[in-house]
Amino acid sequence: MRKITPIEFIDSSAVRLLDQRMLPADVVYNNYSNIESLSQAITDMVVRGAPAIGITVAYGLALAAFNAKSNDISVVKQAVQDADSYLRKSRPTAVNLFWALDQVHAAVPEGITDAADYCKAIESAVDTLAVLDIETNKAIGYHAMAVVPDDVTFIHHCNTGSLATMEYGTALGIIRIAHEEGKKVNVFVDETRPRLQGSKLTSWELKELGIDHRVIVDGASGHVMSTQNVDMCVVGCDRVAMNGDVANKIGTYNLAIVAKEHGVPFYVAAPTSTIDQGTAKGGDIAVEERAAQEITMIGSERIAPEGIDVFNPAFDITPAKFISGIITEKGIVYPPYEEGLAALFKS
Ligand code: MRU
Repeated sequence: MRKITPIEFIDSSAVRLLDQRMLPADVVYNNYSNIESLSQAITDMVVRGAPAIGITVAYGLALAAFNAKSNDISVVKQAVQDADSYLRKSRPTAVNLFWALDQVHAAVPEGITDAADYCKAIESAVDTLAVLDIETNKAIGYHAMAVVPDDVTFIHHCNTGSLATMEYGTALGIIRIAHEEGKKVNVFVDETRPRLQGSKLTSWELKELGIDHRVIVDGASGHVMSTQNVDMCVVGCDRVAMNGDVANKIGTYNLAIVAKEHGVPFYVAAPTSTIDQGTAKGGDIAVEERAAQEITMIGSERIAPEGIDVFNPAFDITPAKFISGIITEKGIVYPPYEEGLAALFKS
C-alpha cells in the first residue's frame, strides 16, 4: 500500500497535514505555518482521529517555539505556553489532544537555558511521540489477535486507521494486522454519518490495503448482524472513562446495543493515551456538538429544508456494560473495568 503520512513537521516552519476532507477524490497536503490556522484545521477536521489530533497539536508546540525566532528562552517558552492554551480549545472530546501537549512539556528537560536547544528538545519530544504511536498501534493489533478468529467478519465504525494515527491505526490496525497475519478478513464498514469517515476514509484505506470490505449505512448494522455472521465489532475511541464508559464517534452506542442483542462481541481499541485517569464516568466527558450543515448538506447539496433545527453531537457515550473488552497496547482489559483500567497505570 502507498505510505500514508497524515502529519509532518516541515523545515521547522510548518505542520503539513493531509487534508482528509478531500479524500477519497484528491490527495492534497496543506502547510500550516501559524498556530491559529493549525488550530482551525483541527476544528475543521482537515486532520481528525484522536491520536492524529494529539500529534498535530504536539507539533504545534514545536511550530510555536521555532516561530518565536528569539534567542531569549523566556520569550520562546511564553510563545509555547500561548500556543498550548490556544490549541487546547480546538476540539474538546479526544483526550489525546490534552495528553500529547502534557507529554511534550513533561519530556523537555528542565535545565535547558539555550533557546535553540529548547526548540530542538520540543521537536524531538514530538518525534518520539509520533514513533511511539505507531509502536502502540501495532501492539494493540497483536494483542487483539488472541480474540480474532482465523476467518473473521468485522463491523467497524468511523475511521481509526493510518489517517487517524501516525500509521496502522487502532481498531483498523487490528483489521490490518489480522490481514497481515494471514487471517481471512471481511469488513462491513459503517459509512458513519454525518461526515462519512467510514465510506470516505476507512474504505479508502482498506482498498489501498487490499482488504475485502463492503460499506453499509449505519442503520444497517442490525440487519447485517442478523443475516451476515458477523464475528465482532471493533471501534476506536476518543476518551475512556475509568469505569469503562467510552466516548467515540456518534453511532457507536447504537452499534454496541445492536451487538449485545445479537451476541456479537464488541471491542474497543484504545491506546492508554486515550484512557483518561481524570474522568470517572462517561457522563463526565464533554461531547462536541458541531455545525448543522454537516447534517443538512452533503457537499454543496442541501438534503434538509432551509432553517430547520438540528442536533449534531459528534460523539456518543457507550456504557461499559456493552463493551466485551478494551484492547490496549498493554493487553486486553475485561470487566470489571474499574480494576483493570486502574491496573494499567500502576505498572
Ligand atoms: O470526529 P473524528 O473523525 O475525529 O472522530 C474520530 C473517532 O471517533 C475515532 O473512532 C477515534 O478518534 C479513534 S481514532 C484511532
